Amino acid sequence: MKLVNRYQPNKDVQHITKTIDLDAFALSDLELLGIGGFSPLTGFLNKDDYETVVQSMRLASGEPWSVPITLPASNASSIHVGEEVRLVYNDVTYGVLTVESIYEPDKTVEAEQVYRTTEHAHPGVAKLYARPNVYVGGEIVLTKKIERDEFAEDYLTPEETRQAFHEYGWKTVVGFQTRNPVHRAHEYIQKAALETIDGLFLNPLVGETKKGDIPANVRMESYKVLLERYYPQNRVHLSVFPAAMRYAGPREAIFHALVRRNYGCTHFIVGRDHAGVGDYYGTYDAQEIFKEFEEGELGITPLFFEHSFYCKACDNMASHKTCPHDSSEHVILSGTKVREMLSNQVLPPKEFSRKEVIEVLIKGETNKEVRS
Ligand code: ADX
Repeated sequence: MKLVNRYQPNKDVQHITKTIDLDAFALSDLELLGIGGFSPLTGFLNKDDYETVVQSMRLASGEPWSVPITLPASNASSIHVGEEVRLVYNDVTYGVLTVESIYEPDKTVEAEQVYRTTEHAHPGVAKLYARPNVYVGGEIVLTKKIERDEFAEDYLTPEETRQAFHEYGWKTVVGFQTRNPVHRAHEYIQKAALETIDGLFLNPLVGETKKGDIPANVRMESYKVLLERYYPQNRVHLSVFPAAMRYAGPREAIFHALVRRNYGCTHFIVGRDHAGVGDYYGTYDAQEIFKEFEEGELGITPLFFEHSFYCKACDNMASHKTCPHDSSEHVILSGTKVREMLSNQVLPPKEFSRKEVIEVLIKGETNKEVRS
């Protein structure tokens, strides 16, 4: 995939009077569009692409794309096709959009197709409904990157990660998406992949997540201690994925894979309930959905992993594919349960998470209490 590059920091934008206010979600989408993370997209979806993406996970050209990248605008009635508008967040201009279409989406259809539910309790659906009801589509130029002081040293563009993988001499690279600390199960599947793939690209999402998820700065600290102590330094690359989390389960797994292809990965890990939330998706729905594409069409190969856990009888990490023992031997904790334990300063067992990771998470919880 040839990377799109629409970052033009020197573009003169002062003469453009019309503006659209971005929310944090649209701002991170704008940035990823600009730096080529969303290649082949060159802007926020126009009506025709939006409709085919929602209905059939394809752009109007037929290329795979599973999640609509849209720009909802509350002032759409004052904007016209053909105009240039400045894209503004907190009074700062981050880019320019050339308006190609203005349209009213059927959000119920979007929710049903993309999220497989119309329930407002789903955080992705709630977000969809909370945003303005008219979308503006068109090509963008990114004029300013988001300043993220805390992640500055761990931020690379897709062009830069491709270059880095090339310099490491990695012929194959497996991408790992996460919005959580790396627990033993994650480590297990990453290392299983590393047995046959040259390098691991640990690419935690640091854009907007739902309330209750562990903040990205705390997670980054936990990844660093873990990588330092338990991973071969020359086989792993850590940098952040500046996208917002959609919680769209299967559709988001395809999206996550396509974007990691753009970052230079040849393979992508999809485990249990990838990008899921609550009970909205079946454990392996996010793996099943890959069957809807022809082999080679996505430009990246998914690596599927069963639900893994620590088995006391095996005295090892395992999955139902490798472990013959009863589930009473398995150490399995939900994310919610772990967060509850952490907020009560109760340590999750070492079979679930390494102590160095827990220490960082507990410290994060304590700081949170101090701040609030
Ligand atoms: S998310 O973005 O997919 O929600 P999360 O951190 O929860 O991030 O999971 C990262 C990846 O690890 C996903 O591919 C997920 O399917 C996989 N995964 C998480 N926990 C397990 C587990 N216990 N067994 C197998 N795969 C898992």
